[in-house]
Amino acid sequence: MVNVLFVCLGNICRSPTAEGVFRALVAREGLNQTITTDSAGTASWHTGNPPDERGQAEALKRGVDISDLRARQVKEQDFLQFDYVIAMDRSNHDDLLAICPKGHEHQIHLFLDFAPSIDQVEVPDPYYGGVDGFGEVLQMIEVASQGLLDHIHEHNLVNQA
Ligand code: 4NP
Repeated sequence: MVNVLFVCLGNICRSPTAEGVFRALVAREGLNQTITTDSAGTASWHTGNPPDERGQAEALKRGVDISDLRARQVKEQDFLQFDYVIAMDRSNHDDLLAICPKGHEHQIHLFLDFAPSIDQVEVPDPYYGGVDGFGEVLQMIEVASQGLLDHIHEHNLVNQA
């Protein structure tokens, strides 16, 4: 099993979108039994809430339904369950490092490290911006999701169904 957790600040915009897009890729490759996905926020403000309507709409345009997802806060024990803990921006990365048990730091990655074709380090927070922000974020997430899946294929024993 390879367990992947996507993390942003609120867990209602970027990380549930990343979870949905990556989950769809995993399903398309027949890897549901091999790769698990989840998402969480470093903050607890939106715990229990569904993804932002604008993000849901943008994902649905690509045929990705994320309406079932609910926000939760990331916790120290997540580092014991998840092999990959994927931060959307540097601030998420620093907040994760602060709660990471010793010896698990290597599990934290910046999402766009898996998208070398994108000339940015962070997935920008679209919460306070317009709908365009969500489209831009979704494009970045699609590229990085494919990059992450390629990385998992290269570094783990993953049997395609
Ligand atoms: P996310 O976006 O981290 O991509 O889910 C945000 C959602 C909510 C807030 C900030 C960012 N907020 O301040 O409530």
